[in-house]
Amino acid sequence: MASSGLAWFGAGRFPLYLAPMAGHTDTAFRALCKEYGADVLVTEFVQAVPLVRDVARTWHTIEFHDAQRPVGVQIFGATPDLMARAAQLLEERLHPDFIDINFGCPAHKVVEQNAGAGLLRTPALLQEIARAVVRAVPFTPVTAKMRLGWDASSIVTVDAARWLEDAGVRAIAIHGRTRAQGYSGEADWLEIARAAAAVSVPVVGNGDIRDAATALLRQRESGVAGLMIGRAALGNPWLFSEIKAALRNTLPPAPPTDTERMDTLMRYARILAAEAAPPRPDGDVRWMLPRLFPLTQQIPGARKLRARLSACHTLDDILSL
Ligand SMILES: Cc1cc2nc3c(=O)[nH]c(=O)nc-3n(C[C@H](O)[C@H](O)[C@H](O)COP(=O)(O)O)c2cc1C
Repeated sequence: MASSGLAWFGAGRFPLYLAPMAGHTDTAFRALCKEYGADVLVTEFVQAVPLVRDVARTWHTIEFHDAQRPVGVQIFGATPDLMARAAQLLEERLHPDFIDINFGCPAHKVVEQNAGAGLLRTPALLQEIARAVVRAVPFTPVTAKMRLGWDASSIVTVDAARWLEDAGVRAIAIHGRTRAQGYSGEADWLEIARAAAAVSVPVVGNGDIRDAATALLRQRESGVAGLMIGRAALGNPWLFSEIKAALRNTLPPAPPTDTERMDTLMRYARILAAEAAPPRPDGDVRWMLPRLFPLTQQIPGARKLRARLSACHTLDDILSL
């Protein structure tokens, strides 16, 4: 593998990424995952247009603290100029450790504007966007996240990885599903392995890593330079330290106790409330419930706990649980 210039892929390193997940991987959740062993964090995707138009809410979505570095900000869009301008603004204002371009989102409202996974159907535009962003930010490495292709009859994993490398992208995360699959079926790690062997920039494998044993298997068999973990981390941010121990062949950490799980849930609620912008004058924090629910998954009586959380209106209601 050629040097990517990204320090977290340095000699002997095998970084664990927290996958970007819209509606979940806010600053507070990213901080939790960092604490439990995630090496690299990525913000949820934001559209280039509102960044360029200076929409405060969009800028708030991608805020991060220096303690969370390395952090990448993920952007999406279908227009090379706007993507390039958004990247310049990000570089100037936030100095992220990298800017990641989303070529994987399967959502209808994204692909219908030919952004996200939609671009896997139009190689020339995909490459033009990647090139424009790379050129726009001389001081910030650009990476990309993609799927295998649009559908089973148009798999482009290896080609797309080459197009992106050719455009100057410094690392590529691959979610082993097509756009048509959404989140169904299983991630195809053979395809990920093929792409990892075909390019010299680091490839980060993503899809269905739910435990340390699977992570170890993927590391050994796919030739990727790092792993990215999404949904499994939402209910179990401790997974990162379990995987790390497995990769280092050391004893696994003691699993969190129920009290620790509950404390983490409460801590997350507190940080979310503190970082909400703008805070609601009536103290209504029901907006945060969908973010808290995944963390209840492994607490005994989870269903009852979720019912009680659903009846909460304020942070005090939640903390008094
Ligand atoms: C709720 C949710 C939101 C997501 N948002 C994003 C996003 O903003 N950007 C992105 O590249 N992928 C996004 N993804 C995809 C994940 O990053 C990841 O590729 C996918 O969940 C597969 O990994 P996993 O099997 O470890 O969950 C999202 C996934 C979920 C479940």
